[in-house]
Amino acid sequence: MSFLESFFSKKKEQSVLGVDFGSSSLKIVQLRKEHGQAILETYGELSLGQYGGADAGQATNLSSEQIIESLKDLLREAKVTTTSCGVSIPFARSLLTLVELPYRADPQEQKTVIELEARKYIPVPISEVQLDWFVVPAADQAQFGAEDSQEEPRKGSIEVLLVAVHNDELTMLQNVVVGAGLSASFYEIEIFSTIRAVVDDPVKPVMVIDVGAASTKVYVIEHGVVALSHAIAIGSQDITRAIAISGSISITAAEELKKKEGLGDGGAHAPEIVFSRIFSEVRRVLIQYETAHKKSITSIIFTGGGGVTKELDEYAKRLFSIDVHVADPFRKTEAPAFMRPVLEEIGPEFAVAVGLALRKLDEL
Ligand SMILES: Nc1ncnc2c1ncn2[C@@H]1O[C@H](COP(=O)(O)OP(=O)(O)OP(=O)(O)O)[C@@H](O)[C@H]1O
Ligand SMILES: [Mg+2]
Repeated sequence: MSFLESFFSKKKEQSVLGVDFGSSSLKIVQLRKEHGQAILETYGELSLGQYGGADAGQATNLSSEQIIESLKDLLREAKVTTTSCGVSIPFARSLLTLVELPYRADPQEQKTVIELEARKYIPVPISEVQLDWFVVPAADQAQFGAEDSQEEPRKGSIEVLLVAVHNDELTMLQNVVVGAGLSASFYEIEIFSTIRAVVDDPVKPVMVIDVGAASTKVYVIEHGVVALSHAIAIGSQDITRAIAISGSISITAAEELKKKEGLGDGGAHAPEIVFSRIFSEVRRVLIQYETAHKKSITSIIFTGGGGVTKELDEYAKRLFSIDVHVADPFRKTEAPAFMRPVLEEIGPEFAVAVGLALRKLDEL
């Protein structure tokens, strides 16, 4: 490449795409970098129900062909102009565990130790998974010890977050991405994309609650590391179902009512009953974390379509008596001022897609 070419290719504005495969809908966000800013070029969402006989807002189980078809439709509808993307892996299809392993000064030796020890924690043959890991930074581990005066930091060991994804899952995603004409440079478990998009102060322990259609994912982020992750098998689709049953109305009508009323005064009690089940499990997770780590979680951040539920933040504030925020991932992007109110409202649902696109931008 000549100097001139490389100069121009650097100057050329490059657009990137984040693609989030949710159980109820596909979400995409296209960004471009300009003067170090992430410019929002386009975004879009497509309900998968129409491709697989389910109602909007309900989880689906589509074939690869159906997902390819819907992704192509979404790319066209949203007028996406790039093929280079980063793609999410559903939390449910991954395995995350924080483990304590022997410390080795030599990085190569350390790698070997982690790879060998990881086998004990992965329930399937290691050849069937893609394994990744993150060492909790040493400074943070020292800090753990310093903060916690009763407990000496354990010498000769390190904390490692093991991350495994089954090969079949990756192959399926790769087929869909290629089938839709896209080119992905990474596949990332949705939690990591979410953190990038919504967690600002990674030092204090914060809880992120992703209220999706099929499930609610709960994460505790501390020192920028996933200290705890947990899936609750109740999601926003269950609220719709509860409204439909209690009011003897269709799923479609219940879905509409859910979005209109949320947990507000005018709403039926069905949403509150379902949310109280979700939150009793959240509380259990929260207490478990706080007890084990002897520190309190400073705030809760809601993401996911269910995080858009009206009055949810007020409800959670009353319940947990801590800071509660609804995520605003588009805040990390530049967009025309008139679009802000809309972006703020739909933001939580796009947290994963925004996080993916932000990582992809960093690759440029
Ligand atoms: N304004 C709203 N109020 C309440 N619920 C909403 C609102 N908007 C979307 N939802 C609900 O959010 C859910 C979709 O959220 P999201 O797109 O985050 O799920 P998903 O990523 O497809 O699912 P999962 O994360 O479980 O795989 C649907 O059940 C939908 O009904
Ligand atoms: Mg989701």
